[in-house]
Amino acid sequence: MRLPDFPWDALAPFARKARAHPYGMVDLSVGTPVDPTPLAVQHALAAAANAPGYPATAGTPELRDAAAGWLARRLGVIVEPDSVLPVIGTKELVAQLPSQLGLGPGDRVWIPAPAYPTYEVGALLARCEPVLGPVDGVALVWLNTPANPSGRVLTVDEMRAVVGWARERGIVVASDECYIELGWEARPVSVLHPDVCGGSHEGLLAVHSLSKRSNLAGYRAGFVTGDPRLVTGLLEVRRHGGSMVPTPVQAAMTAALADDMHVAEQRARYANRRAVLAAALAVAGFTIEHSEAGLYLWATRGEEAWTTVDALASVGVLVAPGVFYGEAGRRHVRIALTGPDAQVATVPERMAMLPPPQLVNPPPAPVAAGYVGGGHQTGARPVAPLLPSGPPTGGLPVAGARPDTAYQHQQGSQYQDRGPAPAGPGTLPAVPWPGDDRGGRPGFRVTTEPPDIR
Ligand SMILES: Cc1ncc(COP(=O)(O)O)c(C=O)c1O
Repeated sequence: MRLPDFPWDALAPFARKARAHPYGMVDLSVGTPVDPTPLAVQHALAAAANAPGYPATAGTPELRDAAAGWLARRLGVIVEPDSVLPVIGTKELVAQLPSQLGLGPGDRVWIPAPAYPTYEVGALLARCEPVLGPVDGVALVWLNTPANPSGRVLTVDEMRAVVGWARERGIVVASDECYIELGWEARPVSVLHPDVCGGSHEGLLAVHSLSKRSNLAGYRAGFVTGDPRLVTGLLEVRRHGGSMVPTPVQAAMTAALADDMHVAEQRARYANRRAVLAAALAVAGFTIEHSEAGLYLWATRGEEAWTTVDALASVGVLVAPGVFYGEAGRRHVRIALTGPDAQVATVPERMAMLPPPQLVNPPPAPVAAGYVGGGHQTGARPVAPLLPSGPPTGGLPVAGARPDTAYQHQQGSQYQDRGPAPAGPGTLPAVPWPGDDRGGRPGFRVTTEPPDIR
C-alpha cells in the first residue's frame, strides 16, 4: 500500500527559517489549540482518574446522554443516546471508517477537494480508491462542513442533494462536522438536521470532535452518531479491535459537552485573532476566500503555495501550503487562528516586511473549494495543471450538464475519477452554488457575532 508522504514533514525547513526571525516564530500551520483546556473539564478528568477497569467501547450512559443533549441543544439534531459512539479523536475514526464499514478493494470513497488529507488516507488504508466525484462504485461519501482547509460551509440544498443522490444508491454519507460551532459569517448545518435529511438518519453518520470546541486535542476525544444500524456495526468492530476511549477522557467529554460557556469564550478568542490576521493579510495584498467558518483563513496572493509559505517564513510566520489539501490549493495557504494572542499581535508588523509576490505565470481563475473534482494530491508532490473545464459544479453532476464535463480530473494524479458521472434519473438536481465565489469573496467581513446554530 502506498500512503501519501506525511505532509507536515515537508514544512520543517520553513519552520527553521521562521524560527530564525529576530521576533521569533508565529506558528499558524497545524491548527493545534493553544488555549487552556477548561478547568471544569480538567477537574472531571482528574475526578475520574481512579479507573482500574476497562472502559465501555460504547461510552458511559452519561457521555452518550451529554452528546445527545449537545446535538439537540446546539444543532437541532435529535438522536437516541444509544446512537452515540465515542472515538479516540476523530482523526482515528476518519482514518478507519472505510475499513470499519467493511469497505475494501473495488469500493470508491468520494472525498472533498480541497480536503483534510485523512479522508484519502482512510480510503487507502481500506484499499479503496479515493475519487473526487460521484462516479460508479462509490460506497462512501465524505462531506466536511465547515471545511478544512477552506472554511467553506455547505448549504442545506447542497447537502440535501448529496444525501438524496447517495440514498438512491444505498451509499453511506459521513459528514465531518469538526468545526460546526465555529460559524462566523455562515450557519453550518449538520447532515443529521431534519432540513437536510428529512428527519431520517438512514445511511448517514456525523462525526464530531471536541478538540477544537473544547481545547481537548490532547485528550483525543470525539464521537460519531447517526444511523443506528451503522453505529451498531461500528461498535461491534470497535469492540473487537479495542478502540476504547479511556474512562477519564469519557468523563472529561461528558463535562465538556454539558457546557457551552467555554465555547463562547473560545469563539471570542478566535474571533479576535481572525480579525487581526484577516486585516493584516488584506493589507499585505492577500485575497481571503471562503473562511466563513472554522479555524482557518484560506488565502492567496496568486503565486505558488510554497512560494507564499517561504515568503511568510521569512517574516517568521509559519503557515500550511494549500497543496497539503490537494490540487485545488496549489496557490493558497491555510492560516490557522491558533497562535497565542501576543504572537498574533505581531503579525501586522511582520506583514509590512513581507517580500512581494512572485508571479511566474498569471494565475488561473481560482478554483472554488468544495466538491470540485479538481484533482487531489497530498504532500509536496509536483503539481499537474488542472484540465480546462466549465464553471465549478461542486463536483456534483448538474442537471443538463454533459456527463463527461460534470466533474474534472487531474492528469498525472495517483488516482483519478474514472468513468462518466451518472446521468439519467439519478442525476442530481442543479443546486444553488454559494455566491459566485470563484474570484474570491469580495466584501470579506470579520464578525464576532455568536453562531446562529439551528
Ligand atoms: C476536518 C477535520 N476532521 C477531523 C480532524 C481531527 O480532529 P481530532 O482527531 O482532533 O478529533 C481535524 C483536525 O484538524 C480536521 O480538521
